[in-house]
Amino acid sequence: MRVLVAGGAGYIGAHVVRALDARGHEPIIMDDFRHSNRERVGDYPLVEIPIENTQAVLEAFSEHQPEAIVHLGGYISVGESVRLPEKYWSNNLGAGMSLLTACSKFPIKAFLFSSTAAVYGDVEKTPIAETAPLQPTSPYGDSKLAFEKVLHQHGKALGFRSLALRYFNASGACVAWGVGENHEPEEHLIPRVIRALKAGDPVYVYGNDYPTPDGTCVRDYIHVLDLAQAHVLGIESDSLQSGMSFNVGTGSGFSVLQVIEEAGKQLEKKPNIHFQERRPGDPPSLVADPSALLKHLDWKGEHSTLSEVVGSAIAWETQREALYS
Ligand SMILES: NC(=O)c1ccc[n+]([C@@H]2O[C@H](COP(=O)([O-])OP(=O)(O)OC[C@H]3O[C@@H](n4cnc5c(N)ncnc54)[C@H](O)[C@@H]3O)[C@@H](O)[C@H]2O)c1
Repeated sequence: MRVLVAGGAGYIGAHVVRALDARGHEPIIMDDFRHSNRERVGDYPLVEIPIENTQAVLEAFSEHQPEAIVHLGGYISVGESVRLPEKYWSNNLGAGMSLLTACSKFPIKAFLFSSTAAVYGDVEKTPIAETAPLQPTSPYGDSKLAFEKVLHQHGKALGFRSLALRYFNASGACVAWGVGENHEPEEHLIPRVIRALKAGDPVYVYGNDYPTPDGTCVRDYIHVLDLAQAHVLGIESDSLQSGMSFNVGTGSGFSVLQVIEEAGKQLEKKPNIHFQERRPGDPPSLVADPSALLKHLDWKGEHSTLSEVVGSAIAWETQREALYS
């Protein structure tokens, strides 16, 4: 299938593009590189435009005639969204409307959207099922939830299959494909820990008095290859009901200290841990209940062991230093 991948030059998008290609689909990247690099495009067809440019999006649909859309082109920082809500609503909701405008003029079969565990907000119990209350605590989570809603409304009205994938903590990399995480600034735990350990810097841990087994926050780290595979299955599952939202996580949680320990073991470095105050808005534990994904998409999280997640991120860090230094 011809699949337009908006945000396809980003960290997750680059893996989705290559996973689609590996299954015989034809990905077309739409990105303006505001948060990414051209190196990630490789030989794939590229539409270099801002997604909010509706006229340019319509021209891209006319030229490439996509049969399905994967929309990953958003901003990703919870903290920044609290400081700059307009930036997040404009891009995470507003820009995506261009794609829906184009879908109302050109027939497509499916539209997959990158949503997030942040739509649940402060959860009372984990693992979190899709039936848990939706109470985002940031403009980031709110804007993602709002786009889920408009997407499902458009899918129903226009007759395409809409699917929202609520990612938990995307992590790891695919060294064989030469792509991995390179956010600026990098806010994600695993690359930050690896960089600190390699440089001999302190590893900062925010809060060690949470109600978790070792007092540090627990998260569900899903390997980006397993995440990409969920998109391939979502594109291919013709029989799937439209308007569904799925958690994409592993169902297992690891604490900040467990992640640091694993990275220290693999890098053979002793972490110099500095405990800091809790950060506002960090829930103690966020772990997915992925039962619906396993049932409806026959998804298997084959790469999401802590060892492979951290190991692939370490291998990527060496490639990243060579590529971007
Ligand atoms: N990384 C995670 O752990 C995580 C977790 C939950 C949800 N998500 C969601 O997944 C998506 C992808 O995340 P990522 O980590 O790959 O982020 P990323 O920043 O690496 O990739 C986003 C890509 O979209 C592009 N982009 C953004 N806005 C654009 C616009 N208006 N026009 C053109 N291009 C635009 C950027 O240049 C970048 O290439 C995001 O929408 C994010 O909210 C990510």
